[in-house]
Amino acid sequence: FFRTEIPEGLCQLPGPKPLPIIGNVLEVGRNPYLSLTAMSKRYGDVFQIQIGMRPVVVLSGSETVRQALIKQGDDFAGRPDLYSFRFINDGKSLAFSTDQAGVWRARRKLAYSALRSFSTLEGTTPEYSCALEEHVSKEAEYLVKQLNTVMETDGSFDPFRHIVVSVANVICGMCFGRRYDHNNQELLNLVNLSDEFGQVVASGNPADFIPILQYLPSTSMKKFVSINDRFNAFVQKIVSEHYTTFDKDNIRDITDSLIDHCEDRKLDENSNVQMSDEKVVGIVNDLFGAGFDTISTALSWSVMYLVAYPEIQERLYQEMSKYSTLTANLPFLEAFILEIFRHSSFLPFTIPHCSSKDTSLNGYFIPKDTCVFINQWQINHDPELWKDPSSFNPDRFLNTDGTELNKLEGEKMMVFGLGKRRCIGEVIARNEVFLFLAILVQNLRFHAKPGEPLDMTPEYGLTMKHKRCHLRAAMRSRNEE
Ligand code: HEM
Repeated sequence: FFRTEIPEGLCQLPGPKPLPIIGNVLEVGRNPYLSLTAMSKRYGDVFQIQIGMRPVVVLSGSETVRQALIKQGDDFAGRPDLYSFRFINDGKSLAFSTDQAGVWRARRKLAYSALRSFSTLEGTTPEYSCALEEHVSKEAEYLVKQLNTVMETDGSFDPFRHIVVSVANVICGMCFGRRYDHNNQELLNLVNLSDEFGQVVASGNPADFIPILQYLPSTSMKKFVSINDRFNAFVQKIVSEHYTTFDKDNIRDITDSLIDHCEDRKLDENSNVQMSDEKVVGIVNDLFGAGFDTISTALSWSVMYLVAYPEIQERLYQEMSKYSTLTANLPFLEAFILEIFRHSSFLPFTIPHCSSKDTSLNGYFIPKDTCVFINQWQINHDPELWKDPSSFNPDRFLNTDGTELNKLEGEKMMVFGLGKRRCIGEVIARNEVFLFLAILVQNLRFHAKPGEPLDMTPEYGLTMKHKRCHLRAAMRSRNEE
């Protein structure tokens, strides 16, 4: 259609030749993290594909991604206007909407400070160093009991089904000041169906790029709209209850602190960013949504890896047995977590970005409003960066005598994005995964259900899940060697 004028001195982006109407959809296929990694070998760190009629720039390679997201951070901090994103949080999502830079920045700051203050609050007893530690320890201990009970009654359990409730309870505690029973149907209906959400918002979903597909009946799109509606209704009900019982002198949780912010803002004549109350309080939808799906996926994968590598499970247990407290230095556990993030790369792409102005990268011209995919999976499996990248080997993150974490190696792994859009829950996520896993490994030995081979093939999505399956676990006795 239109050929953009390329400024002098810059080159046109390389990439595969698109077909009319569908573009490169066929080559991208069902597993874009694999197909786009293969294309990066042919076309380099910066190349262009076309999904439907829309050009998409794909970035790979650690140096190139750092250049784009850190050194040229402002140029690439936008979000594209994608069809599926309009349904998330009623189009008012902090993470997915096309908010102008000023509004997005103000909301991100608010979200970050609310999250930080409600995770670092003091615990209710000196046993816990902070509120996050208290929530996680209690939920993890409850999860151990729950898995043990299910083992006694059913003989096996679906790991994701139980982990997701425990993780949702941690973020519910911080956002809404409440927790739910493991059999609460309202919560279960909401959190157990998150697979379809991730499949629709994943990078490269054709319906986001080929307008005609938006008018065809699609079961996954219908489910997606219904999940978003249910999710919004669930949060809205709790938010309304908070408005009714709000007391400025007793800010109970993140929802209260956001309501309080709206009240203060009305009195502040100097406030320069115009935002509706809905946009402020709506931040809690993003925190709750991002806070349970990502961490439950990480933990569920962790349990799969424990089962797949029993010798690693034993080594983790032995490391933990040496210490009486779980917040001690546990380098092998930390290395194991980093290796799960790297090897599974369960967030294979960041949320799509968008160029906020005409710009260039590695000598190629990228026009304003171009959709940009960041291939984290490629960085985590790049043979230039990692020795034998396809093997699962936590020791790669330890120093040579295995006693300390190699911080520099850890920093090469990319699963939280980088720069201006970097995940705001990263610190919470790392601490939460660490503590949940420490308590699980210390109390239970996980193993496969005889006759059920372990299937570690990821199903593509914003967060990639393993197939639902059944596992077994046995309680460890306190004086086990
Ligand atoms: C954004 C990863 C946990 C809140 C992101 C992004 C990634 C990510 C890759 C997109 C970055 C980009 O677009 O460049 C993860 C992983 C997690 C995790 C792997 C767990 C292991 C959490 C938690 C919260 C959270 C626990 C909050 C409670 C957010 C928010 C954004 C975000 C609000 C949007 C930021 C923005 O668009 O400015 N995360 N995340 N995440 N994450 Fe996380």
